[in-house]
Amino acid sequence: MSEREPIGVVGAGWVGLVTAACFAELGHRVVVREIVPEKVESLRRGEIPIHEPGLPELIKKNAERLTFTTDMAELLDGPRLLFVCVQTPPTYSGDADLSAVQRAVGEIGEPDGKALVMKSTVPVGTGRTIHRDAPELAYVACPEFLKEGTAVKDFLEPDRVVVGFDQGDEWAADAVAAAYEPLGAPIVRTDLSSAEMIKLASNAYLATKISFINEIANVCDEVGADVTEVARGMGMDPRIGDRFLNAGLGFGGSCFPKDTQALKILAGNSGYHFQLLNSVIEVNELQKRRVMAKLSKHLDSLVGKRVALLGLAFKPDTDDMREASSLVLASRLEGEGATVVAFDPVAEERARQLLPSVEMAGSAMETLEAADAAVLVTEWPEFAELDWTEVAKAMNNPLLVDGRNFLDPDAVRAAGMTYEAIGRPGLADRSAVS
Ligand SMILES: NC(=O)c1ccc[n+]([C@@H]2O[C@H](COP(=O)([O-])OP(=O)(O)OC[C@H]3O[C@@H](n4cnc5c(N)ncnc54)[C@H](O)[C@@H]3O)[C@@H](O)[C@H]2O)c1
Repeated sequence: MSEREPIGVVGAGWVGLVTAACFAELGHRVVVREIVPEKVESLRRGEIPIHEPGLPELIKKNAERLTFTTDMAELLDGPRLLFVCVQTPPTYSGDADLSAVQRAVGEIGEPDGKALVMKSTVPVGTGRTIHRDAPELAYVACPEFLKEGTAVKDFLEPDRVVVGFDQGDEWAADAVAAAYEPLGAPIVRTDLSSAEMIKLASNAYLATKISFINEIANVCDEVGADVTEVARGMGMDPRIGDRFLNAGLGFGGSCFPKDTQALKILAGNSGYHFQLLNSVIEVNELQKRRVMAKLSKHLDSLVGKRVALLGLAFKPDTDDMREASSLVLASRLEGEGATVVAFDPVAEERARQLLPSVEMAGSAMETLEAADAAVLVTEWPEFAELDWTEVAKAMNNPLLVDGRNFLDPDAVRAAGMTYEAIGRPGLADRSAVS
């Protein structure tokens, strides 16, 4: 493989590490600057601080081309393209907290002949503000669309690569486009603000789809239809598509909740009330709480009850707990007087810090032992393999709320469980089944 343009990455989180490993895989030398020394030390030892399938292997395979450092000077010494991949979490008001971005931008300064390539998700207008304050540094908005759990594949096989830039920075846009060129994806060359909006609008649209199907599920519960059948029938229409039509406990994770909030506030600050997005967010908040009503249908009170949570991460194949539905659910259950016990195959360590009062079990079966109810929160494949007859025997009261519509209702009910899901009332409740 011929040597390609060196690349600098700021931030060794999900986006930074995947970006670095994948560019190294494409033949680039990559210097990663991370601010947390412990992360750098563990990366140098070959230990990856996040759970992301395929990433450890890719980092190991390309170790020769990857350098991890805490020293910004080492990063600024070589590459022209500096990919900024730092966090942009929500503030209390819901706005994007840009302090990590501002710090990184300040540390980079205005070196000659270099370009800042913004991968972090930022409000529209951020790029132009940064560029105004540091006009000598070229600026490219290159938002990231990877999904945790399939991040490596998503990076290496993107649907599109967005390259946003304003006049004068064509050389930097060309260099970024050239770095992605081997992936063969369409390159969307556009202006800075439109690039920033493409990212926010994409996440808001996907979140809208999820809240829409959740509302349909809630109506299905009332009228005796099965939302999984409805979604199957809807999804075959190519104008709709079958993805993001899984009803459940609502969306969580590090992106959708904060990015929808940030877009809502961005619109509000510019004088526009984004009514639809307000509803999308509200539906999602209420959806996490619907499990409580499902439990109350079968239990008089939750006081002193032992409730098992199957899964804690916001989705399978990640240990990311940011905005996970399990956080809201566990505190609601505890607030109602229940004792919460939980199991997650990979998120336990992160969950312990966020849910100190929740008892962590060593396996799914151990969580369910003597429980008065169970809630499936994350659709980890191993939960589909559980022997539900054994589960029914082990539980104090064999009640399961499937918060992700993940299991086969008939099989779970046949094993002696009382099964509740989201928008899937039992067969007996349906007036006609073909
Ligand atoms: N995680 C995702 O699935 C995903 C997908 C698409 C876009 N994004 C966006 O990408 C950005 C990064 O997300 P993430 O999930 O990778 O965040 P993260 O919190 O996992 O990683 C950010 C990393 O940057 C480091 N950092 C902060 N300031 C630094 C500095 N000045 N110098 C060097 N390192 C610094 C942090 O210590 C941390 O390790 C966010 O804006 C997010 O919205 C995330």
